[in-house]
Parts: sequence; C-alpha cells; structure tokens
Amino acid sequence: MICPHVWQPSDVARPVILLLSGPNLNLLGDRQPEIYGSETLLDHVAAARERAQQKGFDLEHVQSNHEGDLIDAIHGARARVASIVINAGALTHYSWSLHDALTAYKGPVVELHLSDPKEREPWRHLSVIEPVAVSSVVGKGGAGYPEAIDIAIDAYNQSDD
Ligand code: DQA
Repeated sequence: MICPHVWQPSDVARPVILLLSGPNLNLLGDRQPEIYGSETLLDHVAAARERAQQKGFDLEHVQSNHEGDLIDAIHGARARVASIVINAGALTHYSWSLHDALTAYKGPVVELHLSDPKEREPWRHLSVIEPVAVSSVVGKGGAGYPEAIDIAIDAYNQSDD
C-alpha cells in the first residue's frame, strides 16, 4: 500500500544560520591549547548547532583556509541565510575582501573569537570584521559559540519585526 504523505513539521524550511571558520581553526584542539583550549572545531560546531536547533534554526558550517572560499560562502548566503556568525581567524585583521563581502550581505553578522585579540599582539588589535558586525563575542573560549548564535538569532528576529 502506498502511504499518503503525512505533513511533518520538518517539511517547513527552517531559517539558516551560517557559521564561518577561517584559516587554522581546523587545528583547534591541537593548536596552542593554552590560548584556544582543548576542544576541537567539531565540538564548537556541535554546540552552536544544538543552540540553533533549540531555537528553530538550522546551522550550516563552512571552514576554509582560503579567503576566496569564505567570500564565496558569504555570497551564497545573500538573500538565503538569516544571519552569519564568523570567526575569521587571522583574516580578521587584514582581509578587506571579507569585510566587503560581509558588507554586501544584508543580514546581521556576529564576530566571534575564542581569545580576545585586543589583549594580544598589537597586530591583532585591528578587526576589519568589527565595523560590519552587530556584536563581537571575544575571549569566552567555546562558550562564545552558543552565545554568538543567540545574538545572531535575536538580531535576525529583531530585523524581521
Ligand atoms: C582567533 C584570533 C585570531 O587573532 C587568530 O589569528 C585565530 C583565532 C580566535 O578565535 O581567538 O586564528 O580568531
């Protein structure tokens, strides 16, 4: 017997948060754990996804060591993704191309860092992401991931009013 399709809540597309991870973040857990902690990027993505799903959002994650891949992901988010959370790694401090791509994205952007770059070497004090972000979550380690998701969702819901 052919079962008629029964409507499921999952049939309704849920809004998407895009989490972007820049260069070297794939090495988390192994890379300078005294600064970045012992959790892996997968741990952080899982925590971010859990928080997003609790609030009725899906989470897409893109990690790349290549600036152009991150720019392409931002272009692909335009008019599709509710909000972007970005830890751009060291690109934070000099990638005006990422800045421009985020400027061309109309939804809210949240900047995220495990450490607090402004408490570190002077070259980390400039962020080209900060001027295009509604908020920056810094220095909270892994706890910053769900917090950044909360801010991204709140900002999206407010912009939707
Ligand atoms: C970082 C801070 C950046 O300065 C650094 O280059 C990173 C990680 C952080 O999460 O604390 O790669 O974005």
